[in-house]
Amino acid sequence: MDKVALVTGGSRGIGAAISKALKAQGYQVAATYAGNDEAARAFSGEAGIRSYKWSVTDYDACQTGVRQVEEDLGPVAVLVNNAGITRDAMFHKMTPTQWKEVIDTNLTGLFNMTHCVWSGMRDRKFGRVINISSVNGQKGQAGQANYSAAKAGDIGFTRALAQEGARAGITVNAIAPGYIGTEMVRAIDEKVLTDRILPQIPVGRLGEPEEIARCVVFLASDESGFITGSTLSANGAQFFG
Ligand code: CAA
Repeated sequence: MDKVALVTGGSRGIGAAISKALKAQGYQVAATYAGNDEAARAFSGEAGIRSYKWSVTDYDACQTGVRQVEEDLGPVAVLVNNAGITRDAMFHKMTPTQWKEVIDTNLTGLFNMTHCVWSGMRDRKFGRVINISSVNGQKGQAGQANYSAAKAGDIGFTRALAQEGARAGITVNAIAPGYIGTEMVRAIDEKVLTDRILPQIPVGRLGEPEEIARCVVFLASDESGFITGSTLSANGAQFFG
């Protein structure tokens, strides 16, 4: 296996688990990150996976970054749009900046990154685009009008692009994780997490990043060619989207 996989936000949280799982399958993996040099260095050292720094919100930086990855490793066959942020606030307190930052990263980031690899995938008649959405894009979450809108948008993007990629051997799918035990979720106020969120998860626990990584490995494989435009929910029965 010499296929190249690019994972955005691939050095921390769910992204780090995805990067490692793809490497274990034999992919050459590039993990991008936006800001945390220290975490990226530690991740690369420990996992033996190259990390690259650019923001998915910057179209030109995505172009330059993807070109660099392709020079280093070869053409990108698998793109995992995982980079995401939260700026939670009840809507009456949400600022235009909190709205824009989340839309720019969690939705426009998918346009920016996918646009960079799409022509190459079409030319080579093979590609796997896997977008990490969220249960909160499916059901909506109070305090997350920005995030829910972006993550719902990711699902619309997935469905539209799946139709465009179908004849070119490119599949486009979304995964909608529920609450996974990462820094992002652990940053939620402890009382909110215990009193309001955990009781809504029938399996009674947070998910593990590796449980999402396994979904990615499945959708990335050559054998998953008939699965496209779908959203794979992994949320402990919290919501049936
Ligand atoms: N539905 C309806 N009303 C709600 C509510 C809900 N789910 N949650 C809170 N409220 C109400 C509260 O009862 C309160 O009302 P009163 O003032 O009348 O008492 C009001 O909204 C304010 O609530 P808070 O005191 O919690 O407000 P806050 O400003 O301190 O905090 C918040 C707001 C930061 C959004 C906080 O409620 C919170 O963190 N909520 C959880 C949001 C969440 O689930 N984020 C997910 C992050 S992880 C992630 O995004 C990954 C993924 O994909 C799953």
